[in-house]
Amino acid sequence: MIVKNAEVVFADGVKKADIRIEGGKIAEIAPSIQGEGIDCTGLTVFPGLIDMHVHLREPGFEKKEDILSGSRAAVKGGFTQVCCMPNTKPVTDNKVVVSYIKNRAKEVGLCKVHPVGAITEGQEGNNLAAIGAMKAAGAVAISEDGKSVPSAKMMSLAMQYASDFGLKCLCHCEDGALVDGGVVNEGYYSTLTGLKGSIRAAEDIIIAREICLAESLSLPVHICHVSTYSGVQLIREAKARGVQVTAETCPHYFTLTDEVIASFDTNTKVNPPIREEKDRLAVIEGLKDGTLDCIVTDHAPHHFDDKNVEYALAAFGISGLETSFALSYTALVKGGALTLCELAQKMSANPAAILSLEGGAIAVGAPADLTIADLNAAWTIDPKDFVSKGKNTPFTGREVYGKIRYTVVDGDVKYSA
Ligand code: DOR
Ligand code: ZN
Ligand code: ZN
Repeated sequence: MIVKNAEVVFADGVKKADIRIEGGKIAEIAPSIQGEGIDCTGLTVFPGLIDMHVHLREPGFEKKEDILSGSRAAVKGGFTQVCCMPNTKPVTDNKVVVSYIKNRAKEVGLCKVHPVGAITEGQEGNNLAAIGAMKAAGAVAISEDGKSVPSAKMMSLAMQYASDFGLKCLCHCEDGALVDGGVVNEGYYSTLTGLKGSIRAAEDIIIAREICLAESLSLPVHICHVSTYSGVQLIREAKARGVQVTAETCPHYFTLTDEVIASFDTNTKVNPPIREEKDRLAVIEGLKDGTLDCIVTDHAPHHFDDKNVEYALAAFGISGLETSFALSYTALVKGGALTLCELAQKMSANPAAILSLEGGAIAVGAPADLTIADLNAAWTIDPKDFVSKGKNTPFTGREVYGKIRYTVVDGDVKYSA
């Protein structure tokens, strides 16, 4: 198959090129290649997007999402690879659940699904999970996502064991005692609405703790979904000192401010919470200067019943796979913060590098994982169009640019529109 007449986003610039795919790999890249294929006139080809932070909910919470519906949402959103978090039921804290997810994803056969194992048994914080066995079964990282590992001692052990097995710890940063039941950012809008607030320090203290551990142990650490200006600054300073820290953020942190909670729309409830304008601007600055390496969705699908309750009782999370690319392209590239190449780094090359996944670049010999988008297509976000079971989005009605036309995984078209 040949991908013809497209603008191609290479690591070093955007160029017109044809791409020949053979045996699931990129076999040739040249100005013009003869043969059958997809005509991509007017379209832009990105290296297959990689979302290193999603929740697919299976096993255990199939009412919210399952591997089939989540994989459909992923390829519709342009993602060729996703990494799924371990807060399933049972928790993904052993090789059996890791293997189950890998096998089910293979049966589904849409995007590549990489399980993330839990750090501690049952995500309870007491005993390390069987990290080596999970790695052998295909886990690509470990994380306690949904919460932090309560003790610094346990976290330091986790970093050491993870490193022995060539894995990284992906850290959800939240001091539970300090959050103390807070559901939104503490500030003007928490006061206005009467919703219980949570201060930035609840996130920053754990970011600082993980950085201190990584620095002391000379080991790598990855910080999940950074939302605070002060967290961005902690990571920036740590990187400048040579600490092996990488970090991600999500579209809701660079497109929204906590003003949205005044609607009491529970789809704005997410953890960490949506913060203030200075945080939003700092997150964009962090993406620009390389402090924040990746854009992830933290795709957290929930059932209508989990959200259709009063704000304080609603589940935390945003269904993000089907809006991430357009939100990011519109806010960051059209907004002037990033180039197309930089967007491809944040959404493909950097996640691949951080987790040592194949892919992340369009090059001869690489897997033929491609995301082909019409950047001029404008559309309006409407959860009725989502294929994810999770319709929980705070972006209903938002106008965005960038529609996914084809998602190609190992040379096979897994989605087209
Ligand atoms: O908003 C969130 N939802 N944040 C998390 O850390 C977990 C996630 C979920 O699993 O629903
Ligand atoms: Zn999290
Ligand atoms: Zn998460």
